[in-house]
Amino acid sequence: MYKKTMSAMLAAGLVLSVGVASAQEPVQKPNAQAASAFDNKIIKKISSDNMYNTIAKLSAQPREAGTEGEWIGVQYIKSQFEQLGYETELQPFTFNEVVRGTGSLTVNGATLDPYVFSGSYSAEVTADIVHVGLAKSGEVPDEVRGKIALIERGEITFVEKIQNVLDKGAVGVIMYNNSGTSNRFGQANAGQNIPAVAITRDQGLELVNQLKGGPVEATIKVEGSGFVEKTSYNVIAKMKPHKNKDTNQVVMIGAHHDSVAGGPGANDDASGVSAVLELARVMANMPTDTELRFVTFGAEEKGLLGSYHYAGSLSEEDADRIVAHFQMDMVGARDAGGDHPAGGLIMYTIDGKKNLVTDLGSAAGARTAADTVIPYGQLGRSDHQPFHELGIPAALFIHSPLESTYHTPDDTLDKIDKNKLQEAAEIVGASVYQIARPDTPALEHARVAPGPVDYDFNDRPPGA
Ligand code: BES
Ligand code: ZN
Repeated sequence: MYKKTMSAMLAAGLVLSVGVASAQEPVQKPNAQAASAFDNKIIKKISSDNMYNTIAKLSAQPREAGTEGEWIGVQYIKSQFEQLGYETELQPFTFNEVVRGTGSLTVNGATLDPYVFSGSYSAEVTADIVHVGLAKSGEVPDEVRGKIALIERGEITFVEKIQNVLDKGAVGVIMYNNSGTSNRFGQANAGQNIPAVAITRDQGLELVNQLKGGPVEATIKVEGSGFVEKTSYNVIAKMKPHKNKDTNQVVMIGAHHDSVAGGPGANDDASGVSAVLELARVMANMPTDTELRFVTFGAEEKGLLGSYHYAGSLSEEDADRIVAHFQMDMVGARDAGGDHPAGGLIMYTIDGKKNLVTDLGSAAGARTAADTVIPYGQLGRSDHQPFHELGIPAALFIHSPLESTYHTPDDTLDKIDKNKLQEAAEIVGASVYQIARPDTPALEHARVAPGPVDYDFNDRPPGA
């Protein structure tokens, strides 16, 4: 019922109207003139210094899901919400993680100390080695049948490489690094039943060399140790609307607090968490007619596990009340965004279609510091996915093209840009307040234009 109400507002061009003269041209008005008094209630209070400090705290250690680092982050986020007066809940959930196995590799009698590809498979195989390069589809030679494939890392995923040599009948995999001195990499999918180990680039090139002199026999032995159960958490903070003005609607603002293993995840996604916390601070004492839910998800990097768990835990009635989900993931990278306006900020939806969230976001972009209409595009890869699957308008706010350091140990605080944080938080904050403030849909007091905003689909892959 409330979603219909909102669609009706959209159809009437009410929600989207901003002070733009032309529907096509990006707005280039100074922020102070474009922002409405309502926007200013939010955006004037947003402090990128606060966000920066949050990122500093969170990125002090990696926050891989199910580890002590995540728990430290979760405790910090929970305490921040609580200090702001929010009703805050930790929602635990478990997941199974493959334990990396142990193993050995012997080549022509010499023992190497390999890294075992993660997977629970156990086997021993002795066979000749065949060098198959990158093992791209269509490029793996037939002679690998019954042999051990020596593969160079790079360009396609580990899982694809393994599948390509499995399809050709290989019985083992030795993968060598494409750079550096490490042998610590590799992942096979469940069901890819082949012993697989990783070695360094130097070791790999040495084998390639040996193969020039004739056949080389190797023995690979791997022992998988199966799975271990781990616990991750979602942190959920709620603010109920003013009792007499409750529309029964819920708006969600989310980010993921977990990082990849070994990465400080300053941009991915302590930046999003910092914006969630800052908007929670700014809105803490703001009367609304809409329930606000600020959520940081765990185990996003393990496959959107926290957001799927949260979405799965909602009753049908509760899910029906959620009118929008704003996901902020990687909103602070200094080096992302190229030459695009608004630092490359873009709103991605799962189906590549506009929705309430992108409509509000694009219009808010024109009224706030970013000072331009924000485009939209199509991409998943973050926690907006489960909400979309529930039929809830959802979008991912992110800068594109990407910076090169995400998912690495170099995703650090020094590469965070306060201006990017500020712009993203203002846009999401102004958008949320547009729905949540008590007087909507009575928009006549807002500074709006006669027609709805038109904004572009931008077919921009994250790297472009
Ligand atoms: N922040 C990334 C999502 C992302 C990365 C979006 C690059 C756009 C460009 C997110 O944390 C992530 O890494 N997601 C995973 C997918 C998930 C299903 C494990 C990814 O993209 O590999
Ligand atoms: Zn992320």
